[in-house]
Formats: sequence, C-alpha cells, structure tokens
Amino acid sequence: MNNYSYQGALEASERIGWRVDDIIGGEKRLDFSKRFMPESLAQVEKLGFLTPEERKVLNQIRGHEYLAMFGLVEEFILPYVVDHARLKLSGDDYQARALLQFAGEEAKHIHLFKRFRQEFNSGFDSPCEFIGPAEAIRDFVLSHGPLGTGLAILHIEWTTLRHYIEGVKDNLDLDPQFKSLLKHHWLEESQHTKLDTLIVEELATNASAKEIEKAFQEYAEIGGFLDDGIKQQTEFNVDAFAAATGRKLTEGERKEMTKAVLKGMRWTYLGTGMTHPNFLATVEGISPAARKQIEAMAPAFC
Ligand SMILES: [Fe+2]
Ligand SMILES: [Fe+2]
Repeated sequence: MNNYSYQGALEASERIGWRVDDIIGGEKRLDFSKRFMPESLAQVEKLGFLTPEERKVLNQIRGHEYLAMFGLVEEFILPYVVDHARLKLSGDDYQARALLQFAGEEAKHIHLFKRFRQEFNSGFDSPCEFIGPAEAIRDFVLSHGPLGTGLAILHIEWTTLRHYIEGVKDNLDLDPQFKSLLKHHWLEESQHTKLDTLIVEELATNASAKEIEKAFQEYAEIGGFLDDGIKQQTEFNVDAFAAATGRKLTEGERKEMTKAVLKGMRWTYLGTGMTHPNFLATVEGISPAARKQIEAMAPAFC
C-alpha cells in the first residue's frame, strides 16, 4: 500500500518546478573533457582494450543515446497522460490539476532532452545515429490498452530514480550539466511515479481478470519492442564510436564492445525498472503471478 495522492503530488510539483533555461543554455554547456553517464549505466570501463580517452568517448555516445531515448519515450508518455487527463477534467480538482501538471512537465522534458541533444551535437565532432522514427514507435506503444501502456510508463518512470541515485553516488567526476539533467528530471519524475501508480491502480481496479492478464502481456510486448530498439541502437553506438575515434576494432573487440553496450543499455532502460521494488509492489498488488513472471524475466536485462 502507498499513501500517494493527487493533492500531495500537485503540491510537491509546485514546490519543485524548474525551467529548462535553469539547466542548459548560456554558460551552462556540456564539458566534453568529462564523462556524461554514471558507469553503472554506461558499463564501458571494463573494456580494457580501449584507452581512457576512448572509453570516455564511448561513455559520451551512451550519453547521447540517453538523451535521445528519453526524448523518444516522452513522445508517447505525453499523449498517454493528455488522453487520461481529458477523462478526468471534472470531479476532483486536485486530480485534474495534477494530471495536467504531469502532462506539462513531460512536454517540458521533451524540450529539455532536445536542448541537451542540440548542445551535444554542437560539441561532439562526429554524427551519432538514433533509432526511429519516433512517431512509429509512439504509435506502436499507444496501440496497446491503457493499463498495459500505463504499466510500461510506470516502469520507465521508476528507472529515473535509479539513474539519478547511481549518478550521484558514482565517483567518476561526471560532467556537472549531465548530472544536473539526471537530478532535475528525477525531481519531477518522482511525482510522475506516484501519479502513474494512481492511474494504473485505478485502471486495474476497474479491469476484469482477463483484462489484467492481457495488460501484462502488453507490458511484456512493449518491453520486447524496446529491447529490439536497444539491440539496433547498440550497433549504432558501436558504429558511432568507430567513426568518432577512427579506431579499427578487431572482430573480437567489436563483439566485446557490442556485448558491453547491449548489457549497459538493457540495464539502463529495462533492468532498473523491472527490478525496482516500488514498481514490483504495484505489480504484486494487481497480480502476484505477474510479479513472479517479471522477476523471472529480469535477470536477462540486469
Ligand atoms: Fe520525463
Ligand atoms: Fe515522467
């Protein structure tokens, strides 16, 4: 059980609210002499055949992918929240306002990630490809029912807690702007996790056993779809590394790098959500069997 409420989330959100310009732009630039991603997420330091400079470049390429990935997932979270908010405009004023605030913050996050990506592209000398198109991915995810999609979104929101905490505890001397991005994103995502928990719980309360079973199948389907994207993006990241450094990787080195990047991406976007205790607690409240299934699948992404 949790003590989340629309009123509590709205009040926290009003206290926390920040502006994109507070985090990036003007004097606030990315420092390309530093790493961007916490090593727990990047997982590139173990590639002993790379020089420290090359590991830093690969870490930054993972940083670019992080910016693009969150820009991408927010593209389907925003319409999902707007559609849900549309159904809740009358009745509970706190609920209506909290949901509209949630949507407004996600629109702001899309802008934030875009601004960081522009800043990245202006300072990184070589192009980095990213999966897409975002519209096709958004349409695929939103073709699922509200409960299945809501579970996938709840998973994504809980991942950001891990990303921030691991970024702070990491002692790799990360770029301050990237650290600030993780922090400020989490500050607002911490309300989204609560609001999405309330959304998911309400949808589950009104769903039949069959609908709940279908929703968990849809959650797994969306996860599998994201994993396909992760596999493709792994290849793009390795190609971007080769282009940026001019390093000719042997077949064995490319294989090792691909394995490390894939593992890092899976942990970043799938494992951190599937094993998050609060996500699993919500799942268990809806279906103890589904929790067991997710826990059984999780090690492949950790
Ligand atoms: Fe967000
Ligand atoms: Fe969010």
